[in-house]
Amino acid sequence: MKRIEFFINGRSQTVEIEPTMRLIDMLREVLGLTGTKEGCGEGECGACTVLMDGKPVDSCLVLAGQIKGHHITTIEGVSNGAELSNLQRAFVDAGAI
Ligand code: FES
Repeated sequence: MKRIEFFINGRSQTVEIEPTMRLIDMLREVLGLTGTKEGCGEGECGACTVLMDGKPVDSCLVLAGQIKGHHITTIEGVSNGAELSNLQRAFVDAGAI
């Protein structure tokens, strides 16, 4: 187990996990941020996309140990308080789950 400090949706976060755990698994299973979905699991579909320091990455291809000190933004982090952001509204309008 390794202690990893990073920022998630603007908040400082520390977790103790196996550094070889995939980022998508850490987001969903450890932090409960289930808005990030797994599709192909091999970097082809983009369903698992999150922002890492403002740039899109496939969270199925990133190890949790790689995010130390970085800023991660998930779909949960793009809301405007109780209001849906334009991005979230676009997903809803397009029938995304
Ligand atoms: S699940 Fe398809 S790119 Fe990550």
